[in-house]
Amino acid sequence: PWQQGGAAAGPDNSPLQIFVKAKKKINDIFGEIEDYVNDTVEYMHDIEKEQNIINTVRVKETEEFVSKVHGIRDVLCRDHMKVAFFGRTSNGKSSVINAMLHDKVLPSGIGHTTNCFLQVEGSPNDEPYLVLENSEERCAVESVGQLAHALCKEKLSESTLVKVYWPKNRCLLLRDDVVFVDSPGVDVTPNLDEWIDKHCLDADVFVLVANAESTLMVTEKNFFHKVSSKLSKPNIFILNNRWDASATEPEFLDQVRRQHQERAIDFLVKELKVCSSKEAEERIFFISAKEVLQARLAEQGQTTSTPLTEGFQTRYFEFQDFERKFEECISKSAVKTKFEQHSQRGKFIANELRDILDGIYNDALKLKEDRLAQRKEVTDKITYTEQQLMVITQDMKKKIHTMVEDVEQRVSKALNE
Ligand code: GTP
Ligand code: MG
Repeated sequence: PWQQGGAAAGPDNSPLQIFVKAKKKINDIFGEIEDYVNDTVEYMHDIEKEQNIINTVRVKETEEFVSKVHGIRDVLCRDHMKVAFFGRTSNGKSSVINAMLHDKVLPSGIGHTTNCFLQVEGSPNDEPYLVLENSEERCAVESVGQLAHALCKEKLSESTLVKVYWPKNRCLLLRDDVVFVDSPGVDVTPNLDEWIDKHCLDADVFVLVANAESTLMVTEKNFFHKVSSKLSKPNIFILNNRWDASATEPEFLDQVRRQHQERAIDFLVKELKVCSSKEAEERIFFISAKEVLQARLAEQGQTTSTPLTEGFQTRYFEFQDFERKFEECISKSAVKTKFEQHSQRGKFIANELRDILDGIYNDALKLKEDRLAQRKEVTDKITYTEQQLMVITQDMKKKIHTMVEDVEQRVSKALNE
C-alpha cells in the first residue's frame, strides 16, 4: 500500500497546486496589465503627436510602468516555494531531502558531510547540473559521486550556496516549483547569523531534522530562536528522524515518543511561540528518512532491498503524512508571502493608469468646452455688430427720409413761388 509511485499525493490533487494555480493566475493577470500598459503608451504617443492635450510628464510616468510591469513578470516567473532543512550533523538532513526527491540526489553519510549550502531546484531540461556561487558556469553532474567530487574539489566556505539543478521530470515537487535547501550541521559553525541573513529570510518553511535517538539540543534550539527573532512566526516542522532505531526497544517506544512529542510541542509553542499546541501536533513527525529512501529506490527498481525493520510501514505512512502537511503549509505560505506584494503592486499600477487616463479625458473635455466658449464669444460679437448696424441703418433711413421730405418741401415751395 505504500507503493504509490508519486509524491505524497498525485500530481493534480497535490496541495502544491494551490501555489501552482495561483502563480498561473497572477501571471495571466500581469500579462493583461502589460497589454493594457502597452496599449496606453501607444495611444498616448499617437495623440501626443496630433494634439496638445497630453502633458509629457504623464507620458513619462506611463512609460515607466512598462518596465515596472516587466520587472514584476520576471520575478513572478522565478517565484518558488522554498524549504530549508536544519539540524545537527548526521541527523539525516540530506537523507530527508533525498527521500522527498525519491532519489539519491544529495551526498549523505560518512565522508559526505554537507559542508556548504546546497539548493536543489528543477532544471528545465533533462540534464542535471550545478552552478557555484558567483558563477554562471554550468557543471554537468550525472551522479551523487560526481556531485560530491565537484563539491570537495572547490574550497567552499560553509555559508556558500551551490545550486543543484535536477530534472523536473524526475520529481513532482521540483516540477511544482519547490526548492530545497540543505545546510551544514548547526553545531559546526559560529556563523549562524550570516546563514540566516543569506539563506533563510525568504524561506517559506523550515524543517528541523532532529535525532530521535537523542533529544533536541541547545544548538538546534538556539538556531531556531535566532530564526524566529528575525522572521515573524516562521513555519517550522520537526522531524524526529532515525525513528527506526526505536524498533530495537519496542517496550519503550510509546514512552519515548511521548517524551519527544511533549518537548517538541513545548519548544514550538512555549519557547518560540510560533504556533498553538493544536497546530504543533500537525508539525511533529516520527520518521526514518533512510527507510523511505530505500523503499522508494526499490520501487523504481534502483535497488532490490526493501526495508524490513519492524514498524516500517507505520513510519512510511507518517513520512507521507508529513509530506502532505508540508505541501499544504508551504503552498499556502508561499502564495501569501510571494504573491500578496505583487497583487498590491498590480492594483496600484492599474489605479495609477486609470487616474492618468481619467486626467487625459478631463483635459480633453475642458479643451472642448473652452473652444465652444470661444466660438460663442465670436458669435455674440457678430450679433452685436449686426444689431448696431441695424440701429445705424434705421437712423440713417430716418435722417435721409427727413432730408428728402425737407428737400421736397423746399422744392415744391420754390416751384410754387
Ligand atoms: P551532515 O551533512 O553531515 O550534517 O549530515 P546530514 O544531517 O545530512 O545526515 P545524512 O543524511 O548525511 O545522514 C547521516 C547518516 O545517517 C547516513 O549514513 C544516513 O544513512 C544515516 N541515516 C539518515 N537517516 C537515517 C534513519 O532514519 N535511520 C538510520 N538508521 N540512519 C539514518
Ligand atoms: Mg548532509
